[in-house]
Amino acid sequence: MKIDVLSLFPDMFSGVFGESILKKATEKQAVQFNVVNFREYAANKHLTVDDYPYGGGAGMVLKAQPIFDAVAALTAQTESVKPRIILLCPQGDRYTQKRAEELAQEEHLIFICGHYEGYDERIREHLVTDEISIGDYVLTGGELGAMVVIDSVVRLLPDVLGNAESHMKDSFSTGMLEHPHYTRPADFRGMMVPEVLMSGNHKHIEEWRTKEALRRTLLRRPDLFEEVELTKEQEKWLVDIKKEYE
Ligand code: ADE
Repeated sequence: MKIDVLSLFPDMFSGVFGESILKKATEKQAVQFNVVNFREYAANKHLTVDDYPYGGGAGMVLKAQPIFDAVAALTAQTESVKPRIILLCPQGDRYTQKRAEELAQEEHLIFICGHYEGYDERIREHLVTDEISIGDYVLTGGELGAMVVIDSVVRLLPDVLGNAESHMKDSFSTGMLEHPHYTRPADFRGMMVPEVLMSGNHKHIEEWRTKEALRRTLLRRPDLFEEVELTKEQEKWLVDIKKEYE
């Protein structure tokens, strides 16, 4: 996958792309990152990328021209592949694991990160394919949002995580929150690991994990049950778990 990022602060990305799983993903050639300072595309002699809003008011607006030209330069080399052009902004669709899974199928993603009051509306209307918000709060710019989206997409690419199965049971990818995990020692200062996990009985362990995922989802994010399709057996377990809290 090719990932281009348009940002006025490209150095913000070096730590995130240069460590841990994203670094490994680059080394394995699962992903190719390219961060572009779109000020390089500003067509005026002072290299300004923002301007006053028509109609007046506080704050500056990111100009259309540098963004359109930067995207045109990035897509000129790969005309056959239609990239997803993603604008990070608080007004975008709320980001979810489902969207991460969908973006992970693409060959080319371009992220546009702004730092001003707003983007010229023509960027939204005529250039971008997706507007994404990472949550209902306002960041100083789109960079942190882009990092969140990129991290969650790249870890889904084939061969990026060591064990091919290791994201299959992530929280949200099953539609529910994940079950609890334990590692050695079995007795840590009197706090014990549940017996069943040490029983070696895989059927019982699976059943315990599913029930605990149901319990955790019920207690923390019951709204997720509106979307997820439970098996008959899981529905019965959920009824039993609910009874424990009556
Ligand atoms: N830019 C500013 N706030 C944002 C948010 N919540 N998500 C994505 N990009 C943003």
